[in-house]
Amino acid sequence: MVVSNNKGLIAGNWKMNGLRSQLDQISELAGLVTVDMAQKTDVALCVPDTLLFSAAEATKNSALKIGAQDCHVAASGAYTGDSSAQMVVDAGAAYVIVGHSERRDVYKESDSLVAEKASVAYAAGADPIICIGESLAQREAGETLDVIAVQLAGSVPDVDDASRLVVAYEPIWAIGTGLTANVEQIGEVHASIRKGLVERFGDAGAKVRILYGGSMKAANAEEILAVQDVDGGLVGGASLTNEGFLPIIQAAAKA
Ligand code: PGA
Repeated sequence: MVVSNNKGLIAGNWKMNGLRSQLDQISELAGLVTVDMAQKTDVALCVPDTLLFSAAEATKNSALKIGAQDCHVAASGAYTGDSSAQMVVDAGAAYVIVGHSERRDVYKESDSLVAEKASVAYAAGADPIICIGESLAQREAGETLDVIAVQLAGSVPDVDDASRLVVAYEPIWAIGTGLTANVEQIGEVHASIRKGLVERFGDAGAKVRILYGGSMKAANAEEILAVQDVDGGLVGGASLTNEGFLPIIQAAAKA
């Protein structure tokens, strides 16, 4: 068994929330992430594209990194409404979430499209956060590990430096529902993801950070972050306020 020993990553996902009036909140969060915490865990906030540049400016002398929530696969062109990986990186994104279940569901994004997005984000200089996760029906049918294996194989691109890849396990039924996968369920899936990554990338597969996402909050963060092969969290609702987000970062810095 390969045991990972990765630096943590706590990434907030604001989804389609946030106006410029909240830049003060982002600056405040940057000030709350101490040098000490930052030695133990990386911290990122993935904001809407409209806030990328100003959030990156507001946090540039801090340990808080800014991320985007999606990117187009093309570098430029006639794709009304989209932003390319180069554009979001140019605006200050150090990470790009790709393949979030909301995009897989609403925009019918396939594993191969997600892999392409991850690949262009990587090439543009951002670390991709590649989301995978089963639905409730799939879990109830006992298909979780098969679904995860297929998504992992199809959504993770080939890259030279696998340590820049991040995989987020987000059971769809736990996102925004208040339901959290229990530590046994999380441990089982994370172990299977690690195994798949090591089979694919060799020792470098142990360096891919695997995050858990789905109703992570102050009350459950410590317990989840203690699970083997959980290298951090992708945090939606609880990242919307600093009161909700900071305790999760603190839990990761302790883990
Ligand atoms: P949640 O969202 O923490 O609100 O469940 C997580 C996510 O969708 O990334």
